[in-house]
Amino acid sequence: MRIRSAIANMGIYKPPLEGRNPKEYLLMDFNESPEPPPPSVGRALQDYLVEGNLHVYPHYGSFCEELGQYVGVSAAQLLLTNGSDQGIDVILRSMLDPGTNLVIAIPGFTMFKQTVDTIGADFIGVPYPADFAFPYEKVRQAVNLNTRVIVVINPNNPTGTSAPLEQVEALLKEFPDCAVLVDEAYYEFTGQTCLHLLNQYPNLVVLRTFSKAFAIPALRLGYVVAKEEFINELLKIRGPYDVNMAAIVAARALLQDPQPWKELVRHLMKEVKPTLENFFQENEIKFYPGEANFMLVEPKGGAGLAVNYLKDQGILVRPMRPPLEKCFRINMRSIGETEKFMSVFKSYQQRKD
Ligand SMILES: Cc1ncc(COP(=O)(O)O)c(C=O)c1O
Repeated sequence: MRIRSAIANMGIYKPPLEGRNPKEYLLMDFNESPEPPPPSVGRALQDYLVEGNLHVYPHYGSFCEELGQYVGVSAAQLLLTNGSDQGIDVILRSMLDPGTNLVIAIPGFTMFKQTVDTIGADFIGVPYPADFAFPYEKVRQAVNLNTRVIVVINPNNPTGTSAPLEQVEALLKEFPDCAVLVDEAYYEFTGQTCLHLLNQYPNLVVLRTFSKAFAIPALRLGYVVAKEEFINELLKIRGPYDVNMAAIVAARALLQDPQPWKELVRHLMKEVKPTLENFFQENEIKFYPGEANFMLVEPKGGAGLAVNYLKDQGILVRPMRPPLEKCFRINMRSIGETEKFMSVFKSYQQRKD
């Protein structure tokens, strides 16, 4: 048996999932929503099961029209995917060959590198500067004749920073032969989108997800927004049933009942985030607030000790890899849970080893 060398030479992407028991730990490590989706979602799923639908293949019916209304595009400009991870996969498989490349600011979301490696294409990572401002000039200088995709993650995970829309537009304009792939996984937390540029720039491709503000990562639903012609190419790659019906049923209920997730987003961004920022400021702890529902924290004495201490006290945060090894990433939870985090972190700071 001969595995393609691109695959044989790469590693498995293994997020640190072991032991993430929500009954045992306060989960602040995966940028998830702190709350399950509202009861209307559970009821819709229950009805779907009770009606006895599991023996029938998925059929997405009018869901793309409903989603199109939420997004502000036509159904033909949407591709549903099994999480936005699959969106990354189908887009890159449609555009990259060995010998071509993708340009992205790093550190960014890991699945881009993972997917480029499966294809055996080249990954050109342009480092963020110390203040995590999008390295626009360096990104454009990195683009060459073999570049097929330029990725902008807005806001970026893990830095939390965004490329200004003028810079996204400038990339679209300067490189009409490349796709400019804008990952808006955290759109609901920022309200910032580049989708209004879609009519003018056919090379714009946008990725979104139901895993973050919509709170259904377990069901795996993402979507691609692009020109209809490009969506038709992607449809050749995505299987006809790759998105399961439970995801569609839950997403439809979420679109019909938006108040709970909107209220949670408001709470996290307008109440919890400023509270945490004040806490870090008052305690002279370095942090990078970013624009989404998470932030990077750079505790004195390094991240490792703090991460372990928090874990011992029942709180999981995400340690970062180089070049961010001095930081851990933390996502917002309700104000009560955030108070617990602040109290534990204060005791960490005051401890005498
Ligand atoms: C920037 C970014 N894009 C995409 C994803 C993937 O989300 P999913 O595959 O759950 O839709 C994540 C998940 O953390 C992310 O942070």
